[in-house]
Amino acid sequence: MDDTDIIGDLTNVLYTPEDIAERIAELGAKIDADYADKGLVLVGVLNGAVMVMADLSRALRSHCTMDWMAISSYGSGTQSSGVVRILKDLNTDISGKHVLVVEDIIDTGLTLSYLISNLQSRDPASLRIMTMFRKPEAARNAVDVAYVGFDIPNEFVVGYGLDFDGRYRNLRSVGTLAPHIYS
Ligand code: XMP
Ligand code: MG
Repeated sequence: MDDTDIIGDLTNVLYTPEDIAERIAELGAKIDADYADKGLVLVGVLNGAVMVMADLSRALRSHCTMDWMAISSYGSGTQSSGVVRILKDLNTDISGKHVLVVEDIIDTGLTLSYLISNLQSRDPASLRIMTMFRKPEAARNAVDVAYVGFDIPNEFVVGYGLDFDGRYRNLRSVGTLAPHIYS
């Protein structure tokens, strides 16, 4: 599968489109088996989870609905503070529903732990997390992630929904940016 010209901005490709598709298929099968006919609500976190949501939802063979949240984390610079503001809330009521939060990446997990306690207060029947990528820092926070695509090193990665300054989300591969791009 071909990628765009912007793949030349990567120093290192960690995952090809084929790697990603294969892993999504595996996770889809697992999620299908776990939820059977329960009727799942997939909650995507904008903007990064758009690609994962599109692929994971279509890897499922059972019914699901999709809804979205947009959050912004307060805090200085690149460090996640865990204090979160909801920019766009769900359109649907999740009370009594089986909810799976779909994330692009978990770094410290601070953003997610806020989101989870917020969603938990709405009384879903169940609440689990799926993330495509997870960094080592996440282990320090007690966020229970049911489905993980890939555990990755503590490096800044782009592609497949992940951005640098809003760009690279449309890259089909995932990798690390060449230093000349951000310095
Ligand atoms: P925490 O630390 O709260 O933050 O888990 C997760 C959010 O941080 C962003 N993030 C990244 N974005 N490449 C990105 O494009 C990365 O390597 C990266 N690491 C963290 C992302 O917005 C995520 O939702
Ligand atoms: Mg994000």
